[in-house]
Amino acid sequence: MGPELVDRFGRVVRKLRISVTDRCNFRCQYCMPSENVRWLPRSEILTFEEIARLARVAVGLGVQRVRLTGGEPLARPEMEVLVEQLAAIEGLRDLSMTTNGYFLPEKAEALRRAGLGSLNISLDSLRRDRFAELTRRDTFERVLEGIRAALAAGFPVKINTVLMRGINEDEVTDFIEWGRQMGVRVRFIEFMPLDGDRRWSRERVVTADEILAEAAKLGPVESVEADPHQPARAYRVAGVEFGIIASVSRPFCHQCDRIRLTADGKIRNCLFALEETDLRGPLRSGADDEALAAVMRGAVWSKWEGHLINRQDFRQPERAMYAIGG
Ligand code: 5AD
Ligand code: SF4
Repeated sequence: MGPELVDRFGRVVRKLRISVTDRCNFRCQYCMPSENVRWLPRSEILTFEEIARLARVAVGLGVQRVRLTGGEPLARPEMEVLVEQLAAIEGLRDLSMTTNGYFLPEKAEALRRAGLGSLNISLDSLRRDRFAELTRRDTFERVLEGIRAALAAGFPVKINTVLMRGINEDEVTDFIEWGRQMGVRVRFIEFMPLDGDRRWSRERVVTADEILAEAAKLGPVESVEADPHQPARAYRVAGVEFGIIASVSRPFCHQCDRIRLTADGKIRNCLFALEETDLRGPLRSGADDEALAAVMRGAVWSKWEGHLINRQDFRQPERAMYAIGG
């Protein structure tokens, strides 16, 4: 059987990102609004069983990798139970999670035992005061402890660092050095227009070119071969590898092989999509797997060519990142 989740541009979907909750205990500036967050009501959130069923259908359609995201996925209790259910899906090659790290001191081992394969942990500053300014929570030490706990549990760890002008763009070389010391790969991410406060502006994006220029202060920077479907381009400087996710200045939509499932059961075929496809409705009104598969195929078929951030008529989606699932 050939790949089944294909769009009009010939792209094949191999990765599914599942947001398990929109809730988060942090308020990162680039993601959440600072106040008046309206959470989804519990009844609208998919249960573990519903998530596992949809994941199984997606894997049957050629999805190979699943990543759990949020909000903060570990803000939902007993995530290791869901991990175990997903890890048991036949044909799933890789199960990973993106987290803010806060709950890892208690959770890392249980997640590893349940079958989680790897962790991406967000860390945007190595300075406690800046970390607090960026996340609006003074929990720097605790996140570092979470990173250490993840490593101790045996996880391969990548660090996600969103750079914002005027806040942390001077930490590129510090992060590269720190990544070497800790044994983790740091990936610098361009700030995207998905923030809850809608304060994004092009001027605040620290571009891949600028990041590379900063990194070059440590020595000559070389490109490293990487999977073309990875949004991160890989580089090496002074013997250390790092990544750059340049969604704004070097869009990679033509290589995109992912879709997203929101916590309330909508398929988003692009981070910046303005429309979504509902799976929860059919799921809860008794659709069989074939009917759910048909909805997924349709959602993928309708995927657009790429995001419009670099065009005049760009519109920021209604949902901010915490409600989409990074
Ligand atoms: N721009 C870029 N990256 C973002 N993230 C969240 N919001 C944004 C944004 N506006 C990233 C965080 C986190 C991941 C889930 O998404 O770094 O690691
Ligand atoms: Fe929470 Fe992650 Fe959004 Fe930060 S980026 S507010 S940690 S969901």
